[in-house]
Amino acid sequence: MSERPRFHVRKAEPGDAAELVELALAVGSEPEGWLVTNGTWRSVSDERRYVRAIRRSKAAAVLVAEAPEGIVGRLSLSRDPHPASRHVADLGLMVAADWRRRGVGRALMLGAEEWARSAGVRKLELHVLPYNEAAIALYESLGYEREGVRRNHYRRGADLVDAVLMAKEV
Ligand SMILES: CC(C)(COP(=O)(O)OP(=O)(O)OC[C@H]1O[C@@H](n2cnc3c(N)ncnc32)[C@H](O)[C@@H]1OP(=O)(O)O)[C@@H](O)C(=O)NCCC(=O)NCCS
Repeated sequence: MSERPRFHVRKAEPGDAAELVELALAVGSEPEGWLVTNGTWRSVSDERRYVRAIRRSKAAAVLVAEAPEGIVGRLSLSRDPHPASRHVADLGLMVAADWRRRGVGRALMLGAEEWARSAGVRKLELHVLPYNEAAIALYESLGYEREGVRRNHYRRGADLVDAVLMAKEV
């Protein structure tokens, strides 16, 4: 019999800030370079302020996956500020290395769709680095499609790198 997941998805709270920063720094410093942020993140106090601000907003959200040992995944959503594309939100996702392949990423992505529907967002989009096969497999399994390649879109150290733009209508 397969083991039941021992985590749940909820909205982030200001008190999660230290764990959120710790997770982002850990994932961001993995040598494969999964994240666009590349090992840097907000300070804990800035993260706390950010989470506090978006809890009052319909334009953004942070969801977390919480296990008995703490926060093991995070998904951030941010609505496009342009009035003509307010129905679009961009998302970013990370799961702690020890917790991968246990359904956390999928659960957070489904939570994002739920948030989108409640906020009137019709389209979710994301950027993924082209070699991130795990993430691309997850997104494709959920119905995200490639909309193109953003050439030299992100700075990573001295380099500019491409990103794949993927999206799904929800
Ligand atoms: C990408 C990431 C978020 C996936 O999270 P996860 O919790 O491991 O994903 P899940 O367990 O929910 O996987 C769901 C499905 O995605 C696909 N998938 C996930 N990881 C995969 C891998 N390493 N190889 C192939 N397919 C994979 C599979 O279809 C999987 O279903 P299955 O396990 O039943 O086969 C996680 O690997 C991660 O945080 N990586 C580092 C940060 C990152 O890349 N973030 C995304 C930036 S765009």
